[in-house]
Amino acid sequence: MKQQRVVVLTGAGISAESGIRTFRDNDGLWENHRVEDVATPQGWAADPGLVWRFYQGRRRQLHEVAPNPAHLALAELQQGVEDFVLVTQNVDDLHERGGSEDVVHMHGRLETLRCEGSGRSEHRMEASDMGDEFLTCSCCMEPQRLRPDIVWFGEMPMQLERIYEAVEDCDVFIVVGSSGHVYPAAGLVLLARKCGARTVLVNADAPQNLDAFDEVHLGKAGELLPGLVSGWLSEGA
Ligand code: OAD
Repeated sequence: MKQQRVVVLTGAGISAESGIRTFRDNDGLWENHRVEDVATPQGWAADPGLVWRFYQGRRRQLHEVAPNPAHLALAELQQGVEDFVLVTQNVDDLHERGGSEDVVHMHGRLETLRCEGSGRSEHRMEASDMGDEFLTCSCCMEPQRLRPDIVWFGEMPMQLERIYEAVEDCDVFIVVGSSGHVYPAAGLVLLARKCGARTVLVNADAPQNLDAFDEVHLGKAGELLPGLVSGWLSEGA
């Protein structure tokens, strides 16, 4: 795999062993909220205080969790192959803290907040940024309210052009910890396959789009990935 172009797509399952709950293992509720209430532009318009407090809780949680062996293994894979792109659906920063560089966060990030006026994102993780009161931006003459820098349902994922380009050009496409329910992320494996890539899955159980994978490893990412990565890096090509 060393000389190949590798794209990895991760989902909530890779952070599960770090203590962050996945989305579809808990009755369709996100920390006791309905998805529509906390993860849509309509939810934000209807009750911004509720949505803000929900994401502030998730932002504070970042201080309580740490990368697990699966995050570290992907950082090692990045160092070992010539061409590597890591795309994540996760909004946590565990890939970066595990040593991965230039991570493409297609569903946004928790550490940044977005100005409702200009659309600009700013890094806001100081202690004074973590409370339940709304925050304002530092980019506008008249500071505007900040919103979570998250892609909600009904909004366009980020950096799609870059993602499609990398997937179309890759030799190996690896999915880790994703249920294959949310598009366009769930469709990337089909694109990779159509363009001739070998497709690999590492997941706790069979996802929605299982048939799209040439190679399937069922089990916990933190237990399986370190061994898989060592094996891939010792492959001849
Ligand atoms: P899901 O919660 O839908 O799926 C998580 C997947 O990880 C499931 O298939 C689990 O079996 C698997 N899993 C759980 N623990 C695991 C472990 N230790 N090792 C490996 N796999 C494990 O999460 P996503 O597919 O990431 O979008 O969900 C996609 C999107 O849906 C999220 O990005 C979010 C959500 O709505 C937005 O917020 C826009």
